[in-house]
This record gives sequence, structure tokens and C-alpha cells, in this order.
Amino acid sequence: MNTIQYKAAVEKLNLWSHHYYVLDDPITTDEEYDKLYHEVVAFEEAHPDEVMQNSPTQRVGDVVNEGFEKEPHLSRMWSLEDIFNYEDLQKWLTKTYKLDSNVTFYCEPKYDGASLNLIYENGNLIKGITRGDGEVGELITQNVKTINSIPLTIEHKELLEIRGEVVIFKDEFERINEERLKNGEQLFANPRNAAAGSLRQLDSAITASRNLVFLPYGVGVNSLPHKLLNEKMHYIYDLGFRKPPESAVCKNADEIESIYKQMVHDRESYSMMLDGMVIKVNEIASQIDMGYTVKVPRWAVAYKFPAVEKITTIKDIILQVGRTGAVTPVAVVEPTDIDGVVVERATLHNFDEIERKDIRLGDKVIILRSGDVIPKIIKVLTHERSGDEVVFEKPTHCPVCQSELLQEDVLIKCQNLSCEARVVNSIIYFASKPCLNIDGLGTKIVEQLFNASLVKSVLDLFDLTLEQLLELEGFKEKKAQNLLNSLENAKGCEYWRFINSLGIEHIGEVASKTLAEAFGFGFVDATKEQIVECDGIGEEMAESVLEFVRVNRQTIEKLQEILQPKEPQKRLEAKENPFKGKTVVLTGTMSESRGAIKEMLESLGAKVSGSVSKKTNYLIYGEDAGSKYDKAVSLGVSTLTESEMRELIK
Ligand code: IVH
Repeated sequence: MNTIQYKAAVEKLNLWSHHYYVLDDPITTDEEYDKLYHEVVAFEEAHPDEVMQNSPTQRVGDVVNEGFEKEPHLSRMWSLEDIFNYEDLQKWLTKTYKLDSNVTFYCEPKYDGASLNLIYENGNLIKGITRGDGEVGELITQNVKTINSIPLTIEHKELLEIRGEVVIFKDEFERINEERLKNGEQLFANPRNAAAGSLRQLDSAITASRNLVFLPYGVGVNSLPHKLLNEKMHYIYDLGFRKPPESAVCKNADEIESIYKQMVHDRESYSMMLDGMVIKVNEIASQIDMGYTVKVPRWAVAYKFPAVEKITTIKDIILQVGRTGAVTPVAVVEPTDIDGVVVERATLHNFDEIERKDIRLGDKVIILRSGDVIPKIIKVLTHERSGDEVVFEKPTHCPVCQSELLQEDVLIKCQNLSCEARVVNSIIYFASKPCLNIDGLGTKIVEQLFNASLVKSVLDLFDLTLEQLLELEGFKEKKAQNLLNSLENAKGCEYWRFINSLGIEHIGEVASKTLAEAFGFGFVDATKEQIVECDGIGEEMAESVLEFVRVNRQTIEKLQEILQPKEPQKRLEAKENPFKGKTVVLTGTMSESRGAIKEMLESLGAKVSGSVSKKTNYLIYGEDAGSKYDKAVSLGVSTLTESEMRELIK
């Protein structure tokens, strides 16, 4: 790679990254991106003086800060006044029209995250500053550079402050909390806290790992010529920033109310949490005339969405037994209306969470409901305690079958395979969407079938008759026939669905697909060594498969006979060759894309892995091979050039 090619590569990576992180419209694969990225790294290592400021390598989070310095904003960051209903809106509009009767309004979401000020000079991002008290914040530039939706350089050379909100998308928030739960770390209460906490990490590698997203909502110091805010904001989006998922210019209260209703309706479907809609006077000259009170602009207001957090009381803690026997505690709370839904239960995750949060019966707590996530307790109001609150004792016996419970790491489990709760839940799971997707076999019906002693295991489902179903309450000819048809339709399912429906602990949809593809019908005879060879399957999962097969082999075989699943296409057995059954790692630039070479080696029966370890048989390297090559040499792994590999195949 020469300098010209290097510059072109940086441009290309930035374009790909812009499509991925800003436009939500990927135009390449991770593999192509990584390949070019590594070529750029290699060039920069060889030519450290030529590193471009906007190179994606400049985002890497390898900086550990000792603390953050205070840094003044170039112009103040304001807060907003809140309004809560249509009446408030009309009052605010009357007040605003008194200042200027001839204005329109730019409406956009109010993002629930942490605010951030970005300073660009000569087109380069030079500072990232937290909001702080509005006048002075903390300088967190290194962390800000790890956020992929913030361009490191922009096509605007004059001094410019861009303000926006840093958020964590809802699915990423769940992922982070799941990981924290596994590691026994305290959970983040909500995406806002997670975003704010991640932004202020001393180790920028942690910030980088949190997949933060920046959404611009305004400018500070600037020399932009636009007369209207919406035009100014579009100029900012075009510089390479994310657009809001919804925005509009409105002329009056009715138009504002209608877009507000639309946003309230759509809020669950957005990737990020919103807590309201911001209404801003669209004419910049009028904004300047209207000015500010001590705290807030007169030209903008936050029209809050109905709250998703409420205070309630813990009335009871009940225990649920899942299909795997895991007993989970659930809080029963004083029924509370949150955003139109009456919440009566909140998840407590596991018994360690109760202890860590010190949740007691009778406690006042804050609960959060958002989207389709189950409401959760985010804070115990310990200062409100009267002294009558009762500490919850961990159970020793199954609440359903009374058998003794066993503690397994953080989980407490019922070991009784015929425990009613386990049986009913495993049938519900069997019929669910990612398993056999059996229409008409939901929780209520399964319970009904179980209570009528018609179904004691999934096998019994396939012996149900029309006569039996017609005996049940609420079953007429059509409903009964539909259920029998759905059961019939489950036959001939894909094999991964069959594996998934067995409900093997730790084996979900992805692992089921992997097992189906790797072993086909032979998955029941796979050894532990063979199973852990599969990508993404570790020891614990493999042991779980073996244990399940050991106990349930007969049921699996009977079920397979009934369901007749389709056996997946297995790869043809490769002819004898030097790579068959070997683990290889590819690195550096080769004559073809790495994907193509991987496919060729896999067709020869090799396993292509991403990282070098003692288990690696060959490292195959192309031009500009880097750290993987060094690691292979230090571990004594055989190395081959691309042409040596081709020679061996011949
Ligand atoms: S405008 C002068 N717009 O809400 C205008 N703020 O309550 C000041 N926020 O500190 C802010 N989304 O962190 C504005 N679309 C949006 C916003 C937004 C979220 C946050 C921001 C601000 C706080 C004010």
C-alpha cells in the first residue's frame, strides 16, 4: 500500500462506517471492513508520520485517563422547561406568540441519555465535553472519539460547537446488563445511567465496548448562515451525523399535538429511549429576540411523554419455576398505572439481585416499564422505610412440587423432572415461535390440557383426538380442529427447530442451528470433543447437551419418529488432503478475499478459526501479516505462505 492508496482506504473505511453507524444502511461486510482496516493499521505502523487524523484507528480506546479536566463550553448549554399535556402546550404557545406571533416550530424527539458538546476547529474534532453545570463540563475527548457515529473530521472548516445526546440503544442496554448479571456486577438502572456512566469511564476501552450512539440536537458557537433551525439541523446531518427517527416543522397547536401523539405511539419501536418531544421556534432571528430566562430558552420547551418510572410498594415476592427447573423470584407490587398499562409484577432476576439491592417486603421502590421489557425495580427507597419491612428468605423447597431445591451458582433449581411447572413450561416452550411454532398452543391451553390429564409430556400432544378436545371448556369443532391441524403442520419441521424445541439448557436458536448443521441427525451421538469444536459452543453448553441426551434419549428418538424433521444438508465428506480436520488461521492480504480462501479450506474439511492458539495447526499468511503471525511463531505453530498452501493442495 502506498500513500495514495492509504488515503483512499481511509476514505473508504469512513464511508462504510458512515453507512453502518449513521445511516443504518451497511454497504459492506464486517470481513471486508476488517481486511481493509488491517491494511490501514499495517501502513500506519510502517509510516507513523503519515497517520491521518480521521483514520478509524484514531478511535481505538486504548487511552487510560487519570481523571477528567474541567473544560468551559464556548457558549452555555441550556436546560428546557417541561410541559405535560395539551393545556400546558396551549399556555406555552400563547406565551410564545406574545413574543412573536409569526413563528413556526421544529419538533424532534427528546432523547433520554447524556448531553455532550463537540467542538470542531478547521474541520477536526478537537474537544468533547460533558454538559456539567452548563458552563463548565469535563473534557472526555478520548472517550468521545470511540463513538462511531461522531465524525472525527467534517467538511466545515469554521469553528463549530455541535450539541447532542449520547444514548445506548435498548437492545445494547439489555446486552450490557445481561453480561453484568453474569459477572455478578451491579445492573444499570436504565439506558440513561448506562450512557452517562459509559461516557465517563477513565479507561476509554470500556467506553468503546459499550456501543454508544450520538444524536445531534443543536449547535452552540457557529457561523452557519441558515435562517431556519430545520435547515441548520439538516446541514449538521449532512456533515455526517445521525438524523432523528422523526421530526417535523409545525404551524400550530394541532399540528404539534398530532406529531406528539405520533411519537408517543412510535416510541416503543425506536432503538433508543425517548422521554418526550422538544418543540423549538424554527426562525433563528425570533429565537435570538426571545432569548432566555435564567435557566431555559424562551423559544423551546420539552413536551414530556407519560412517565415510564413510578413509585410503588412491594406486596409480595412469589416464585416461578421455569422449564429448566430454575426458580426465579418475581415481585408483586401495588397495581400502578404506567403509561396506560397497569403494572402488577416486576422481575427480580435472581436471589442475588434481591440481596444486592436489599429489597424487602413492604419496601417502597421505583419501577421502570419500557417497551416490551418486563417491568423492573430500579431503586429501593430505603429512606422511606418504617421498620416494618420484612427481609425475604431464600426458598429451600420447590413452591410447586415441594421437592428440595438445589443451589447451582446464582440459580436455585428444582431437580424434579416431573414437577408440574417444569412440564407445563417445557410444553409451552416446545410450541413457541422459535421452536415448533404451533399456532393455538399458548400458555392457557397447555395448562388446560395438563389439568385435564390429557398431556403429561410433549409426546402426548400428538395423541390428542378431536373427541378429547371437544370435551374441554371453550373448545368447539373449529378451535379443536385448528389445534390438531397446527400439530400436524409441525411435522417435517427444520431440524434446528426440532433441537431447539427440546429445551436443552444453554442451547438456544443459534446453538441449535450450529448443532443441526454440524451433526444432522447424529447430534445425539456427538462427543464432547466434537461439540466444543463447533463455533460458539463452549464446555458448559456441550455438557448440557450430553446430560440432556443421556437422560432423554428415548424421548428424543420417539419425538423424532413422530415429527419426521428434515435432515439438514451435511457437507460432503472431504477427500484426504493435508488440511482435512486441521485448524487453520488466516492473516494478512492474500490474492483472493479471505472469505473465498476460508470457503475453499472448509470444503477441504479444515476448520478456519479467527485466532491463533496452541490448537492451531497452520497459520496461513499473506502480505502485511501482523500480530497473528508473531503469535503463531512464538507458539511454535507451523506457518505457510499463501503459495505454500496452494502447493500443498495441488
Ligand atoms: S435542546 C437550548 N433538544 O434534554 C436547547 N435537548 O432538558 C437546550 N435533550 O440538556 C436543549 N434531546 O441533554 C434539546 N432534541 C433535544 C434533546 C435535548 C435530549 C436533553 C439535553 C438537555 C436536556 C434538557
